[in-house]
Amino acid sequence: MTLADIDLSDTAFWGLPLADRAAAFAVLRAQGRPPFYPEPEVPFSEVGPGYYALVRHADVVEASKRPDVFCSARGATSIADLPPEFNEYFGSMINMDDPRHARLRRIVSRAFSPRLIAKFEGDVQRAAAAIVDDLLVTGPCDFVQHVAARLPLKIICDMMGIPNDQFEMVLSNSNIILSGADPEFMSEDINVAVAQILGAGQALADLVTGLAADRAQPRPHAHAEDLVTALVTANIDGEQLTSAELASFFILLVVAGNETTRTALSHALMLLTQFPDQRALLQADLENRIGGTVEEIVRYASPVLFMRRTLTRDYSMNGQDYREGDKAVLFYYSANRDESVFADPERFDITRSPNPHVGYGAAGPHYCLGAHLARRELTVMLRELLTRVPDITAGEPDRLLSSFVNGIKRLPCQFAG
Ligand code: HEM
Repeated sequence: MTLADIDLSDTAFWGLPLADRAAAFAVLRAQGRPPFYPEPEVPFSEVGPGYYALVRHADVVEASKRPDVFCSARGATSIADLPPEFNEYFGSMINMDDPRHARLRRIVSRAFSPRLIAKFEGDVQRAAAAIVDDLLVTGPCDFVQHVAARLPLKIICDMMGIPNDQFEMVLSNSNIILSGADPEFMSEDINVAVAQILGAGQALADLVTGLAADRAQPRPHAHAEDLVTALVTANIDGEQLTSAELASFFILLVVAGNETTRTALSHALMLLTQFPDQRALLQADLENRIGGTVEEIVRYASPVLFMRRTLTRDYSMNGQDYREGDKAVLFYYSANRDESVFADPERFDITRSPNPHVGYGAAGPHYCLGAHLARRELTVMLRELLTRVPDITAGEPDRLLSSFVNGIKRLPCQFAG
């Protein structure tokens, strides 16, 4: 593959076999300078000025730790600027800069206190055990539906105090929001597609607004432990979320917490199937090697493929001059394969150490809020699977067509049980 064959703005690029996609990014990294691409046409806004693709680890790391230069408030989760009506549902802290970002993150981080997280750890273990119980009864099946999607959904919904009968609704709406260009979830008529996305946002906002109103009732102990209660209750400095902030934060949490962890779990089974030597190594000493395995899965799979930043001023970085207003897209998937940082990057190596991957983002103010929880979920689920269904393997994946999430829609699994 040559430079001229590679167009990151072409939807078809994201449908290439994973090995071809990885090879294309190696060609881009070898250029030494970030390639510049015109933006794809989108129906909901003017075609933008194009973007620099940050494909090397050093560029992704530096851009992440300079939010004063590489800002998020002009849009982080989409290369095209989103129309203002999207902000109501999708304008939470991932798309903010300081001081608004810092304020929201402060309130929310307190709600993710060690005490709350400790409570969820028991829930994660119980949920994973129940999912494997069901898997053993069901037998070989679609791993995404029966395993990978279930754990993060159950954990996020339990954290927020969402009743079981709403789980399917939460899952289908978050699927729509992160469906990328996949026609299975999204109409090819763009006006219909925009309405579908806004409708999904509205449905999730209505759900959390209802829960928040319920928590505001004078029943202090009824939901004392859940995250919605923590978020709508003023904390020691008198800070609390408005209902609009709560709704958009909830949508961010559902979308960021579900699809990413599900994707990581699905890739985990594929990788353990594709690299049997690494699987054997892991199974020989599960307790000591599971931590490194989980990091390597997130490096290799890079469930979130990119985040965007916009330049707030002229700036020079690693030999490239940028102008104010330029867009820079941080391709985590490529940074995680940068051969100057990771020896033999296409090898899945659970003993890789150090493993400075940027799968949860690089160090900076937007570093994944849920990284600790995601690590717990992945560790517990893999331990449960590999001890109770040790011969489980993956078949051929049915991949999501998206430039944003390295998603797997369906993944057949086999085992004798
Ligand atoms: C393997 C699973 C996960 C991956 C790969 C992942 C990846 C990421 C990435 C790449 C970012 C952006 C970092 C940046 O812009 O610098 C991010 C941000 C975020 N993630 Fe995760 N994530 C995962 C799981 C979770 C979970 C389980 C939750 C929630 C419980 C979560 C909540 C968030 C939130 C709220 C942000 C925005 C933080 C901010 O803007 O300050 N993530 N994540």
